[in-house]
Amino acid sequence: MNSPRIEVMADGGLFHIQGSSSSLTIANYHGLPLRLWWGSRFTPSAEALAEIRSDPPPYSVCDDPDDTSWSSARLHLDYAPPLAGDRKAPAFIATSTKASIISPRISGWRTYEGRPTLAGLPFARAEASEVRTLELTLSDPEAGLELALSYTVFEDSDIIAHNVTYRNKGDSIIRLSRASSFAFDFAPRHSMELVDLEGTWARERMARRSALTPGKKLIGSNLGVSSHRFSPVCALLPATTTEASGEAWGASLEWSGDWQFSFELDEFDCLRWSGGPGAEGFSWELGPGETFVCPEALLGWSEEGLSGLSDQFHEFLSRRITPPRWRGKARPILVNTWEASYFDFDAQGLDDIARQAARLGAELFVLDDGWFSRRNDATSSLGDWWPNEAKLGGSLEDLARRVDGLGLGLGIWIEPEMVSPNSDLFRAHPDWCLVAPGAPRHRGREQLVLDLGRPEVREEIKGRVRALLSSARFAYVKWDFNRPLGLPGSTLLPPERQGEASYRFTLGAYDLFKSITSTFPDILFEGCAGGGGRMDYGTLSYFPQYWASDDTDAVARWAIQGGAGLFFPPCVIGSHVSAVPNHQTGRSLGMMPRLAAALGGILGFELDLALLEAADFALAAEACNWYKDWRSLLQFGRRVRLPTAAEGDRSGRSPFADDAAWMSVDEASGRAVVVWSRLRATANPGSAFLRLRCLEKEATYMISIPPFVRGPGSSTLARKSGAGTRSLSGAELMRRGLEILPGTGDATAIVFELQRV
Ligand code: GLA
Repeated sequence: MNSPRIEVMADGGLFHIQGSSSSLTIANYHGLPLRLWWGSRFTPSAEALAEIRSDPPPYSVCDDPDDTSWSSARLHLDYAPPLAGDRKAPAFIATSTKASIISPRISGWRTYEGRPTLAGLPFARAEASEVRTLELTLSDPEAGLELALSYTVFEDSDIIAHNVTYRNKGDSIIRLSRASSFAFDFAPRHSMELVDLEGTWARERMARRSALTPGKKLIGSNLGVSSHRFSPVCALLPATTTEASGEAWGASLEWSGDWQFSFELDEFDCLRWSGGPGAEGFSWELGPGETFVCPEALLGWSEEGLSGLSDQFHEFLSRRITPPRWRGKARPILVNTWEASYFDFDAQGLDDIARQAARLGAELFVLDDGWFSRRNDATSSLGDWWPNEAKLGGSLEDLARRVDGLGLGLGIWIEPEMVSPNSDLFRAHPDWCLVAPGAPRHRGREQLVLDLGRPEVREEIKGRVRALLSSARFAYVKWDFNRPLGLPGSTLLPPERQGEASYRFTLGAYDLFKSITSTFPDILFEGCAGGGGRMDYGTLSYFPQYWASDDTDAVARWAIQGGAGLFFPPCVIGSHVSAVPNHQTGRSLGMMPRLAAALGGILGFELDLALLEAADFALAAEACNWYKDWRSLLQFGRRVRLPTAAEGDRSGRSPFADDAAWMSVDEASGRAVVVWSRLRATANPGSAFLRLRCLEKEATYMISIPPFVRGPGSSTLARKSGAGTRSLSGAELMRRGLEILPGTGDATAIVFELQRV
C-alpha cells in the first residue's frame, strides 16, 4: 500500500504532493500559486524556487506596481487569477460593487489528514486515513473574496481531487461569471495532443486524438447536461505516447450540468488547461457570508500510456465514485422491453417476454416506458407516476409477483425530472417548469424540464417517486432524462440572476438522486439520458451503472464502448443484444457478434426474444450461463484494450483492418477472457494474430473456447481457431499472439478463456 504524503518545504514556499508514483509540486511565488511539476515522482529541492524564471519578456507588463523585476507573463501558474502580466484565460472571473477585478493572493495554507466534504455535490469517497489534503487560501481583502484551493491525494493512486470554494467575507455582493474546478499550466514539454470523447445522440463517446496548436480550444456542453456532444473527461499526451507507453494526463469532472474544458497554448509553448462548470451565460451571485463550491475535478497521471491512465480512472471510479453498496457486486443480466415493444404492449405481451427472459437465464425483467397514466406514446403523462392498471392487467405489485414467480427481479423505467404539458402534474402546476418568468416554454420530445432548483418541486417529485417505488418490490430502476435544458430560467430568480438556473437545476437533480437512491439502497439504479447523454462521474456517484447509448448496433457499440472505456470501466456500461435488422442502423449481424459486443459492458437483452431463431436463442442462453461464471472478471477485472490494425494499420490491406478486441484480466487468479470481433467482414481473409497484454511472460496459459461459442449456432471460427484446449506461454501470447482465422457471419467474433496453470 502506498500512503499519500504532502511535504511542505521552504516555510510554505514549496509543496510536494506525492501520489503512488507521481509528484505534483506547487510553489508560492509572490503570493501566486505556481505549478512547477506534475509527473513522475521526484523530490524537489527548495533551491528550485530560485530557478523560477520570471524576468519580464519584451512587450509585457509587470504585476507588482512597485517591483519591475518580475512579471507573471511566463510563469507556470496554478489556478491563475486575472493578472496584469499573464494574459491567458484566468481560472475565474469575479467582480463586485467594490472591485471590477478581483485578484487574490495566497494568504495561508494547511495540510491535513482527510478531505473536504462538498455540500450538495458528489465527491470521491475516502476514509480520512486514506487521504491527505493541501489547502491553500487565497484572499483579496479589499473585495472580501477568499478562495480555498485544495489538492487531495489518495492512497495507492496517482489521481488528485482538486476542489475550489469561494467565500464572500466582505459586505458587498460578488458576481462570479467563471469559476473553474481546476486550471494549471504545463511547462513546455513535447507537442501535446488531446484525446476527447465527442458525439451526439446514438453516437456517444467517439474517441478522437488531435494535436493542440497555438491558440485556444474549447470543448464542453451548454445543453444543461454533461451531454452526448462531449463528455467531461479528456486526456492530454505528448505525440509520442502510445496505448501502452509514455506519459498521459487525464481529467474528469464530477459534474452533470453545463461544463467547459479549455486548452490554451501560448507563444512560449506553455499549455494552460482548465475545466469546470458552466457555459456562456453562467453567473453566480455570492452574497455576504455565502459560499460557492465548484464541482470536484479528478486529475490523473500515468507513464504507462493511455492504458495506464484508463486503469487509474477505472480503479478510482469503481472504488471511490460509484455507490459503495454496489462495489464489486455482480450486475444482473436484464431483459428490457423497449426495443421489444416500445409503447405498444399489454399484460399478455409482458408475461410472454418475462417467460422468455426466464428461459434465457436472465435475472431481471425491465418494464421500460409506457406503463403509467395515459402514456401510449411520447406526448403525455410524464410526472403522473402511477400505473396504467388496465394496460398492465393489474397493479405493479401483481406484475412483480408474476415476474418473481419466474425467478426474475422487476425493474422499471422513470423520468422524474420531466413533465409533459399533457399531464395532471402540469395542469396543476404549469409554473413548475424550468423557464424564466414570462419566457416561452420550449418543448423537446414533447416535454418540459421541471425546475428542480425549487424545493417544493423537488419535494413533490420525491414524494411521487417514493410512492411508486414503495408500491411493489423493485430490484432495478432505469432513470431517464430525454431532452436538454434549452434556455433554462427560474421563477425563483430575479432577471439578473437567471444565469444561475442551469447550475441550480443540477444541484436540485443531485438532491433528488441522493434522496431517492438512499431511500431505496437495495434497488440497482441505471442512469440514462436518451442513451449516454449524462454519463459522467457526477451521475455515477448515485447510479452505479449507465445506459451507454440508444444505439444497440453491435458495430456501433464497439466504437461507443471503446471510447467510453477510456474513462469508464465495464461495470458501469449497460450493453444489450438487440434485434436484427438493428433499429438504429438497419444492420444485420449474427448472434455471436452481437453477443461479443454486449459482453463489453453489462450484458443485457432488448428485443422480442420470442422472435429469435431457436439456434440463436440457444446460443444466447448458453452465453448467459457462461457469463454468470465469468462475470466478476468481465465486470470488475482489469479491462485492457488490445491494439488491432483498426488503430495501427490504416493501409486497408491488413487482415486486421476492421477488427476490434479487448481482454479482461485478473492478475491474482491468472484468469482472462479475450473477445475479438471483425467489424467489417472481408472475403477470403488471411489469418491474423492478436497480441495479448498483461500476462506473465513465464507462465503457461490454458486457452479454451467457451461452450456457447461451440454450441448451437456456433461458428466455423471456433473450429478453425482451435476448439478444445491448447496451452501457450504468456510470452508467446503477448509476442506472437493468438492466431485467428476469421470467417463470415457468426464467425466474425470469438471469445477465448485463459487460465494460468
Ligand atoms: C430513452 C432511452 C431509451 C428508452 C426511451 C423510452 O430514449 O434512452 O432506452 O428508455 O427513452 O422513452
